[in-house]
Amino acid sequence: MKILIINGPNLNLLGKREPGIYGNSSFDDYLPVLRQRYPQVEIDYYQSNIEGELIDKMQQQGFDADGIVLNAGAYTHTSIALADCIRAITAPVIEVHISNVHQREEFRHRSMISAACRGIICGFGLDSYRLAIEALLK
Ligand code: DQA
Repeated sequence: MKILIINGPNLNLLGKREPGIYGNSSFDDYLPVLRQRYPQVEIDYYQSNIEGELIDKMQQQGFDADGIVLNAGAYTHTSIALADCIRAITAPVIEVHISNVHQREEFRHRSMISAACRGIICGFGLDSYRLAIEALLK
């Protein structure tokens, strides 16, 4: 089983960025924990701050991977291009957010990608990624 985790803009700053919202752990610290928990799963990871690069990655791997866990960061709220890409590929995509976007500013309540995704997990901190993997494993 092959799962790709994709993080969008500013998520390379996890651990440093608004720790009150996103926590103190970097994704580089969290990824080995996830990999150890699911040794049977090949977990690939990609991060980019650039919308087109996220799309390129999903186009490249989205026909082979068994699932994609996508935290599109702020592109969640703006990107029709990402939504179209999610619809174009065959791998199921789980939309993930570390924070509970519905408890935050109103502009974060709307997602352009949710309707194209298999499901949505938000508000559980970094554990949101693990819960998304659990969903894909079922
Ligand atoms: C986020 C929520 C988004 O609104 C925000 O722009 C992010 C991170 C989250 O994981 O909680 O960059 O996707």
